[in-house]
Amino acid sequence: TEPLRVALAGLGTVGGGVIRLLDANRDLIKRRAGRAIEVVAVSARDRAKDRGVDLTRFDWIDDTTALAEYESADVVVELIGGSDGPALTLARKTLAAGKAFVTANKAMLAHHGLELAEAAEAQGTALKFEAAVAGGIPVIKGLREGAAANAIERVTGILNGTCNFILSKMEAEGRDFAEVLNEAQALGYAEADPSFDIDGVDAAHKLSLLAALAFGTQPAFGDVAVTGIRHVLAADIAEAAALGYRVRLVGVAEADAHGLFQRVHPHLVPVDHPLAHTTGSLNAVVADGNFVGRLFFQGRGAGDGPTASAVVADLIDIARGEFGSAFAMPASALAKPAPADTGER
Ligand code: HSE
Repeated sequence: TEPLRVALAGLGTVGGGVIRLLDANRDLIKRRAGRAIEVVAVSARDRAKDRGVDLTRFDWIDDTTALAEYESADVVVELIGGSDGPALTLARKTLAAGKAFVTANKAMLAHHGLELAEAAEAQGTALKFEAAVAGGIPVIKGLREGAAANAIERVTGILNGTCNFILSKMEAEGRDFAEVLNEAQALGYAEADPSFDIDGVDAAHKLSLLAALAFGTQPAFGDVAVTGIRHVLAADIAEAAALGYRVRLVGVAEADAHGLFQRVHPHLVPVDHPLAHTTGSLNAVVADGNFVGRLFFQGRGAGDGPTASAVVADLIDIARGEFGSAFAMPASALAKPAPADTGER
């Protein structure tokens, strides 16, 4: 059998992780996928940077978006980020060329997910994004496949490791936001624009994708009400603790007769709730289904190993010919979400 040939855009933390993972687990991946998975071409801003792996075996392409036409590649993996710009151009060109597209780019999907899902379907190819939400936790597959038979009542989650690290530190050490911010950013999980983390935008991108999967709706980032954690004080956290609560940045998506309610903001989480026990940079998602009951997913939501693991899981699906729908169902069947009247906007 022919290998699955991959063109890889972006060799940052996650891109380097993908190459290391494909090297380290080559044999087991080949057995599970039924064929080898091989990177053939790469593109990155800085050629000279040492990424701890031999990159001379790949074809280097200067114009990232040209990877879409790289002839021998079957699939393009996009790890450059940004909701528009080269990532979006690459996605559009790749899908238009009928090639599969794997991405960790939650911002792009939150804004253009429907268009890209439609493009993939029109060409009979795959659009996959397990790595875009909660890194290594298989929450996209969990909702789309595992909970496929359920009506989901609510999805909640801790979707940003940087914020959760900051809030956990503030709680454990009684320090204020500004003091622990730098430590959180030193972890290397922060977005290119770190305000996306602390102002809740990154969590909102991810929540809009979870909501689309859970409720069979088109992703609607513009309907998410967002408040970040800048204004949370150590004193707020101490007061909450005295009352039996922890402060977490939580995303909530809930559908009722009034519409789809999506918001991200600092929540008081009762100490006996699973999200209260998600500490440090971990992520977690809770989904309540009408037959399965409560599902609780927890794990590492960022970093090279977990995120690469999700990217390569998508590549294995594609190698097996399991394309599926990008979201809960074919793009044409996704309902337009009715924004809930929360009185907040
Ligand atoms: N900036 C994100 C976080 C990285 O802190 O969780 C993963 O999307």
